[in-house]
Amino acid sequence: MNYALVTGADHGVGLALVTNLLARGWTVLACRLNPSEKQVDALKAEYADTLAIIELDVSKDESVSNMASMAASLVPHLDLVINNAGILGDMEKEFGEDIDFNQILTIFNVNAVGPLRVSNALSALVMKSTLKTIVDISSEAGSIHDCYRVGWWGYGMSKAANNMQGALVYNNIRDKGGRVIQMHPGWVKSLIKGFYEDEADITPDESAKGILHTVLDTELPVEERPLFLTYQGERLPW
Ligand SMILES: NC(=O)c1ccc[n+]([C@@H]2O[C@H](COP(=O)([O-])OP(=O)(O)OC[C@H]3O[C@@H](n4cnc5c(N)ncnc54)[C@H](OP(=O)(O)O)[C@@H]3O)[C@@H](O)[C@H]2O)c1
Repeated sequence: MNYALVTGADHGVGLALVTNLLARGWTVLACRLNPSEKQVDALKAEYADTLAIIELDVSKDESVSNMASMAASLVPHLDLVINNAGILGDMEKEFGEDIDFNQILTIFNVNAVGPLRVSNALSALVMKSTLKTIVDISSEAGSIHDCYRVGWWGYGMSKAANNMQGALVYNNIRDKGGRVIQMHPGWVKSLIKGFYEDEADITPDESAKGILHTVLDTELPVEERPLFLTYQGERLPW
């Protein structure tokens, strides 16, 4: 039996990852921020025995601790943890303008500290599994090498920090057979900008299928550093 946990499963890429893992026969702990987001509940009808829904705010220590206790009571181990929850924040403000630093701290708490909070709380369950795999849904916007934007301060900086926490976690678990994959999910039609972005390249389902194919069906190399890949398995520069 394979067990996975996905954060930010309310909708978008997270919900699609849950849906596709269930279709692959996995048992899934779907962590949802907002209980009024009911889309994941709809999956219960088809997957009553293999889906559990857990409320989770990755920005809060207590919420993560409660989630980890719940996870330990539900599954014997976790083969796959996908840190998908993320927020975007302001994209417009440029250097010298009135950048909202408090918003940047909020974004850091969700996008950079959140994944570490979750992975750290679940480390024992992950290391008990065979696959021992953590996937951080990062972004091409977190690549310092490829940085071309003049704004998106909170998002770009927090995704670069997300990549660093993934690299540090990897250094802790690599020699014990653990792996961490930093993943850009593509430009996805989702609600991350506060509206449904229909002009984006791919649907959440296409993104999720690509991510799971890359992580679960592909012989990925084990290297000195974690892999930073697109959902199609192409390498991104750090
Ligand atoms: N869309 C893209 O083109 C794109 C590109 C690169 C990377 N990404 C990354 O892909 C991931 C998924 O994004 P998406 O496009 O699917 O957008 P989305 O639909 O907005 O999904 C983000 C999810 O994270 C949840 N979330 C927000 N704050 C949270 C918190 N504090 N604790 C737990 N969950 C929280 C949201 O819940 P609520 O909405 O209910 O608040 C939502 O379910 C994010 O990490 C994002 O940065 C997306």
